[in-house]
Amino acid sequence: MADWACVNGRFSPLEQATISINDRGLLFADSVYEVLLAEGTRLLAGARHFARLQRSLSALGIAAELPQVRAWVAETLRQSGCATALIYVQVTRGSAPRQHLPPPGLAPNVIVTVRAWQATEPATRRHGVRVITVPESRWARRDIKTTNLLPNFLAKQQAAAAGAYEALFVEADGTVNEGASANVAAVLEGVIVTPPQSPRILPGVSRDIVVELARRAGLRVEERTLTLDELLRAEEVLLTGTTTEVQGVTQIDDAAVGTGAVGPVTWQLYEAYRAAAAELLEPA
Ligand SMILES: Cc1ncc(COP(=O)(O)O)c(C=O)c1O
Repeated sequence: MADWACVNGRFSPLEQATISINDRGLLFADSVYEVLLAEGTRLLAGARHFARLQRSLSALGIAAELPQVRAWVAETLRQSGCATALIYVQVTRGSAPRQHLPPPGLAPNVIVTVRAWQATEPATRRHGVRVITVPESRWARRDIKTTNLLPNFLAKQQAAAAGAYEALFVEADGTVNEGASANVAAVLEGVIVTPPQSPRILPGVSRDIVVELARRAGLRVEERTLTLDELLRAEEVLLTGTTTEVQGVTQIDDAAVGTGAVGPVTWQLYEAYRAAAAELLEPA
Protein backbone atom coordinates (compact mmCIF):
# COMPACT_ATOMS: atom_id res chain seq x y z
CA MET A 1 0.00 0.00 0.00
CA ALA A 2 1.54 3.33 -1.07
CA ASP A 3 0.63 6.85 -2.12
CA TRP A 4 0.54 6.67 -5.91
CA ALA A 5 0.27 8.99 -8.88
CA CYS A 6 -0.46 9.07 -12.57
CA VAL A 7 0.48 11.92 -14.90
CA ASN A 8 -0.89 11.50 -18.42
CA GLY A 9 -0.78 7.72 -18.06
CA ARG A 10 2.66 7.52 -16.38
CA PHE A 11 2.24 5.72 -13.05
CA SER A 12 4.70 6.12 -10.17
CA PRO A 13 5.00 6.53 -6.43
CA LEU A 14 3.49 9.94 -5.63
CA GLU A 15 6.77 11.67 -4.75
CA GLN A 16 8.30 10.69 -8.12
CA ALA A 17 5.53 12.20 -10.25
CA THR A 18 6.42 15.36 -12.19
CA ILE A 19 4.76 17.83 -14.53
CA SER A 20 6.04 20.51 -16.91
CA ILE A 21 6.79 23.98 -15.53
CA ASN A 22 4.81 25.20 -18.56
CA ASP A 23 1.67 23.56 -17.27
CA ARG A 24 -1.19 26.08 -17.37
CA GLY A 25 -2.63 24.72 -14.16
CA LEU A 26 0.59 25.76 -12.46
CA LEU A 27 0.91 29.11 -14.26
CA PHE A 28 -2.73 30.31 -14.41
CA ALA A 29 -4.82 27.88 -12.31
CA ASP A 30 -6.23 27.03 -15.76
CA SER A 31 -7.51 23.68 -14.56
CA VAL A 32 -10.31 21.85 -12.82
CA TYR A 33 -10.31 19.08 -10.26
CA GLU A 34 -12.26 16.54 -8.24
CA VAL A 35 -11.69 14.93 -4.86
CA LEU A 36 -13.37 11.63 -4.15
CA LEU A 37 -13.10 8.69 -1.80
CA ALA A 38 -12.64 5.03 -2.60
CA GLU A 39 -13.12 1.80 -0.68
CA GLY A 40 -10.98 -0.88 -2.26
CA THR A 41 -11.50 -0.51 -6.00
CA ARG A 42 -14.86 1.19 -5.65
CA LEU A 43 -15.52 4.93 -5.84
CA LEU A 44 -17.93 6.75 -3.56
CA ALA A 45 -20.47 8.49 -5.81
CA GLY A 46 -18.06 8.16 -8.74
CA ALA A 47 -20.66 8.94 -11.41
CA ARG A 48 -21.63 12.19 -9.70
CA HIS A 49 -18.00 13.29 -9.36
CA PHE A 50 -17.22 12.51 -13.01
CA ALA A 51 -20.39 14.28 -14.14
CA ARG A 52 -19.28 17.37 -12.22
CA LEU A 53 -15.77 17.07 -13.68
CA GLN A 54 -17.27 17.00 -17.18
CA ARG A 55 -19.34 20.06 -16.35
CA SER A 56 -16.26 21.94 -15.08
CA LEU A 57 -14.25 20.93 -18.17
CA SER A 58 -17.04 22.05 -20.49
CA ALA A 59 -17.36 25.37 -18.66
CA LEU A 60 -13.67 26.11 -19.33
CA GLY A 61 -13.63 24.53 -22.79
CA ILE A 62 -11.00 21.94 -21.88
CA ALA A 63 -11.44 18.84 -24.05
CA ALA A 64 -10.34 15.82 -22.02
CA GLU A 65 -11.25 12.19 -22.70
CA LEU A 66 -13.21 11.38 -19.57
CA PRO A 67 -13.29 7.57 -20.08
CA GLN A 68 -9.48 7.70 -20.30
CA VAL A 69 -9.29 9.82 -17.12
CA ARG A 70 -11.55 7.35 -15.34
CA ALA A 71 -9.43 4.40 -16.50
CA TRP A 72 -6.31 6.14 -15.15
CA VAL A 73 -8.08 6.70 -11.83
CA ALA A 74 -8.97 3.00 -11.61
CA GLU A 75 -5.43 1.93 -12.46
CA THR A 76 -3.79 4.39 -10.02
CA LEU A 77 -6.11 3.09 -7.32
CA ARG A 78 -5.26 -0.49 -8.17
CA GLN A 79 -1.50 0.14 -8.19
CA SER A 80 -1.64 2.06 -4.87
CA GLY A 81 -3.24 -0.88 -3.09
CA CYS A 82 -4.84 1.56 -0.62
CA ALA A 83 -7.85 0.08 1.16
CA THR A 84 -9.51 3.44 1.85
CA ALA A 85 -8.23 6.15 -0.42
CA LEU A 86 -8.52 9.84 -1.14
CA ILE A 87 -8.37 10.38 -4.89
CA TYR A 88 -7.40 13.71 -6.41
CA VAL A 89 -7.96 14.28 -10.13
CA GLN A 90 -6.80 17.45 -11.84
CA VAL A 91 -7.15 18.23 -15.52
CA THR A 92 -5.29 21.26 -16.84
CA ARG A 93 -5.57 22.90 -20.25
CA GLY A 94 -2.07 21.63 -21.05
CA SER A 95 1.51 22.85 -21.33
CA ALA A 96 2.71 25.81 -23.40
CA PRO A 97 5.25 28.63 -22.90
CA ARG A 98 3.65 31.18 -20.62
CA GLN A 99 1.31 33.62 -22.32
CA HIS A 100 -2.28 34.37 -21.48
CA LEU A 101 -3.79 33.05 -24.70
CA PRO A 102 -3.12 29.32 -25.06
CA PRO A 103 -2.10 28.01 -28.49
CA PRO A 104 -4.95 26.09 -30.14
CA GLY A 105 -5.15 22.34 -29.84
CA LEU A 106 -3.28 21.89 -26.56
CA ALA A 107 -3.45 18.37 -25.12
CA PRO A 108 -4.78 18.52 -21.53
CA ASN A 109 -2.58 17.31 -18.68
CA VAL A 110 -4.23 14.81 -16.36
CA ILE A 111 -2.94 14.28 -12.83
CA VAL A 112 -4.29 11.59 -10.53
CA THR A 113 -3.06 11.00 -7.00
CA VAL A 114 -4.21 8.35 -4.56
CA ARG A 115 -3.42 8.54 -0.86
CA ALA A 116 -4.44 6.46 2.13
CA TRP A 117 -7.40 8.09 3.84
CA GLN A 118 -8.85 8.10 7.35
CA ALA A 119 -12.15 9.78 8.13
CA THR A 120 -12.47 12.42 10.86
CA GLU A 121 -12.20 10.87 14.31
CA PRO A 122 -15.53 10.17 16.05
CA ALA A 123 -14.85 12.69 18.85
CA THR A 124 -14.96 15.61 16.39
CA ARG A 125 -18.19 14.26 14.95
CA ARG A 126 -19.77 14.11 18.41
CA HIS A 127 -18.45 17.38 19.84
CA GLY A 128 -18.94 19.55 16.78
CA VAL A 129 -16.66 22.23 15.43
CA ARG A 130 -16.26 25.98 15.39
CA VAL A 131 -16.40 28.00 12.19
CA ILE A 132 -15.50 31.60 11.52
CA THR A 133 -17.15 33.90 8.99
CA VAL A 134 -15.12 35.73 6.34
CA PRO A 135 -16.15 38.17 3.60
CA GLU A 136 -16.82 36.51 0.25
CA SER A 137 -13.78 37.29 -1.88
CA ARG A 138 -13.90 34.71 -4.67
CA TRP A 139 -14.71 35.04 -8.36
CA ALA A 140 -18.31 34.88 -9.54
CA ARG A 141 -18.24 31.27 -10.91
CA ARG A 142 -17.82 29.19 -7.77
CA ASP A 143 -19.97 26.49 -9.35
CA ILE A 144 -16.98 25.52 -11.51
CA LYS A 145 -14.54 23.39 -9.53
CA THR A 146 -11.32 25.12 -10.60
CA THR A 147 -7.97 24.99 -8.85
CA ASN A 148 -8.20 28.76 -8.41
CA LEU A 149 -8.38 28.25 -4.63
CA LEU A 150 -6.30 31.05 -3.17
CA PRO A 151 -9.22 32.73 -1.32
CA ASN A 152 -10.33 29.33 -0.04
CA PHE A 153 -6.86 28.53 1.22
CA LEU A 154 -6.47 31.96 2.87
CA ALA A 155 -9.86 31.60 4.56
CA LYS A 156 -8.94 28.12 5.78
CA GLN A 157 -5.65 29.45 7.11
CA GLN A 158 -7.51 32.24 8.93
CA ALA A 159 -9.85 29.64 10.42
CA ALA A 160 -6.94 27.48 11.56
CA ALA A 161 -5.23 30.51 13.13
CA ALA A 162 -8.46 31.18 15.05
CA GLY A 163 -8.61 27.56 16.20
CA ALA A 164 -11.61 26.91 13.95
CA TYR A 165 -12.32 24.02 11.60
CA GLU A 166 -13.76 25.95 8.69
CA ALA A 167 -14.45 29.44 7.35
CA LEU A 168 -17.84 30.39 5.91
CA PHE A 169 -17.93 32.89 3.04
CA VAL A 170 -20.57 35.58 3.68
CA GLU A 171 -21.59 38.23 1.13
CA ALA A 172 -21.74 41.92 2.10
CA ASP A 173 -25.57 41.64 2.25
CA GLY A 174 -25.36 38.82 4.81
CA THR A 175 -25.96 35.93 2.38
CA VAL A 176 -24.11 32.83 3.51
CA ASN A 177 -22.64 30.90 0.59
CA GLU A 178 -20.53 27.96 1.74
CA GLY A 179 -17.33 27.01 3.52
CA ALA A 180 -13.81 27.07 2.09
CA SER A 181 -14.10 23.34 1.38
CA ALA A 182 -17.64 22.33 2.38
CA ASN A 183 -21.27 23.30 1.83
CA VAL A 184 -23.38 24.54 4.70
CA ALA A 185 -26.93 23.95 5.92
CA ALA A 186 -28.95 25.07 8.93
CA VAL A 187 -31.95 23.69 10.78
CA LEU A 188 -34.51 26.46 11.28
CA GLU A 189 -37.73 25.57 13.09
CA GLY A 190 -37.17 21.97 12.10
CA VAL A 191 -36.61 22.70 8.40
CA ILE A 192 -33.22 22.01 6.81
CA VAL A 193 -32.23 25.09 4.83
CA THR A 194 -29.30 25.09 2.43
CA PRO A 195 -28.29 27.63 -0.22
CA PRO A 196 -29.65 26.78 -3.68
CA GLN A 197 -27.41 25.66 -6.51
CA SER A 198 -26.17 28.76 -8.28
CA PRO A 199 -22.87 30.26 -9.42
CA ARG A 200 -22.37 31.37 -5.79
CA ILE A 201 -21.57 27.87 -4.53
CA LEU A 202 -20.00 24.62 -5.60
CA PRO A 203 -22.72 22.05 -6.36
CA GLY A 204 -21.48 19.69 -3.67
CA VAL A 205 -21.89 15.99 -4.30
CA SER A 206 -22.31 15.38 -0.56
CA ARG A 207 -24.76 18.29 -0.30
CA ASP A 208 -26.97 16.69 -2.96
CA ILE A 209 -26.75 13.28 -1.34
CA VAL A 210 -27.62 14.70 2.09
CA VAL A 211 -30.58 16.64 0.65
CA GLU A 212 -31.84 13.45 -1.02
CA LEU A 213 -31.35 11.39 2.15
CA ALA A 214 -33.11 14.00 4.28
CA ARG A 215 -36.12 14.07 1.96
CA ARG A 216 -36.18 10.28 1.84
CA ALA A 217 -36.31 10.28 5.66
CA GLY A 218 -39.32 12.60 5.57
CA LEU A 219 -37.45 15.70 6.73
CA ARG A 220 -38.34 19.04 5.16
CA VAL A 221 -35.59 20.66 3.09
CA GLU A 222 -35.64 24.13 1.57
CA GLU A 223 -32.98 25.10 -0.95
CA ARG A 224 -33.01 28.86 -0.61
CA THR A 225 -30.84 31.81 0.34
CA LEU A 226 -29.55 31.55 3.90
CA THR A 227 -28.51 34.63 5.85
CA LEU A 228 -25.97 35.00 8.62
CA ASP A 229 -28.77 36.22 10.95
CA GLU A 230 -30.61 32.95 10.33
CA LEU A 231 -27.47 30.94 10.86
CA LEU A 232 -26.92 32.64 14.21
CA ARG A 233 -30.41 31.75 15.43
CA ALA A 234 -30.55 28.27 13.87
CA GLU A 235 -31.18 25.22 16.06
CA GLU A 236 -28.42 23.40 14.20
CA VAL A 237 -25.77 24.18 11.60
CA LEU A 238 -23.90 21.55 9.61
CA LEU A 239 -21.27 21.20 6.94
CA THR A 240 -21.21 18.65 4.13
CA GLY A 241 -18.33 17.58 1.91
CA THR A 242 -16.52 14.56 0.57
CA THR A 243 -13.88 14.65 3.30
CA THR A 244 -16.05 16.55 5.81
CA GLU A 245 -18.94 14.06 5.35
CA VAL A 246 -21.62 15.52 7.67
CA GLN A 247 -20.14 17.62 10.44
CA GLY A 248 -22.07 19.53 13.09
CA VAL A 249 -21.10 23.14 13.80
CA THR A 250 -21.47 24.18 17.42
CA GLN A 251 -19.95 27.66 17.32
CA ILE A 252 -19.96 30.45 14.73
CA ASP A 253 -17.32 33.08 15.47
CA ASP A 254 -17.97 33.59 19.21
CA ALA A 255 -21.64 32.55 19.29
CA ALA A 256 -22.88 29.10 20.26
CA VAL A 257 -25.18 27.37 17.78
CA GLY A 258 -28.45 26.19 19.35
CA THR A 259 -27.74 24.34 22.57
CA GLY A 260 -24.00 24.34 21.81
CA ALA A 261 -24.03 20.60 21.10
CA VAL A 262 -24.33 18.65 17.86
CA GLY A 263 -28.09 18.45 17.27
CA PRO A 264 -30.33 15.47 16.53
CA VAL A 265 -31.02 16.34 12.87
CA THR A 266 -27.30 16.66 12.16
CA TRP A 267 -26.66 13.33 13.82
CA GLN A 268 -29.51 11.67 11.92
CA LEU A 269 -28.09 13.00 8.64
CA TYR A 270 -24.57 11.90 9.55
CA GLU A 271 -25.76 8.39 10.29
CA ALA A 272 -27.91 8.29 7.15
CA TYR A 273 -24.92 9.44 5.10
CA ARG A 274 -22.63 6.80 6.60
CA ALA A 275 -25.25 4.11 6.01
CA ALA A 276 -25.80 5.26 2.41
CA ALA A 277 -22.07 5.32 1.68
CA ALA A 278 -22.07 1.57 1.08
CA GLU A 279 -24.85 1.89 -1.54
CA LEU A 280 -23.02 4.76 -3.22
CA LEU A 281 -19.87 2.75 -3.95
CA GLU A 282 -19.42 2.11 -7.68
CA PRO A 283 -16.77 0.14 -9.54
CA ALA A 284 -13.89 2.46 -10.49
C1 LIG B 1 -15.80 25.30 -1.94
C2 LIG B 1 -16.35 23.93 -1.72
N1 LIG B 1 -17.66 23.80 -1.45
C3 LIG B 1 -18.21 22.60 -1.22
C4 LIG B 1 -17.45 21.44 -1.24
C5 LIG B 1 -18.10 20.10 -1.00
O1 LIG B 1 -18.23 19.41 -2.21
P1 LIG B 1 -18.29 17.82 -2.25
O2 LIG B 1 -19.41 17.42 -1.36
O3 LIG B 1 -18.59 17.52 -3.68
O4 LIG B 1 -17.00 17.32 -1.78
C6 LIG B 1 -16.09 21.53 -1.53
C7 LIG B 1 -15.27 20.31 -1.58
O5 LIG B 1 -14.07 20.35 -1.63
C8 LIG B 1 -15.51 22.80 -1.78
O6 LIG B 1 -14.22 22.93 -2.07
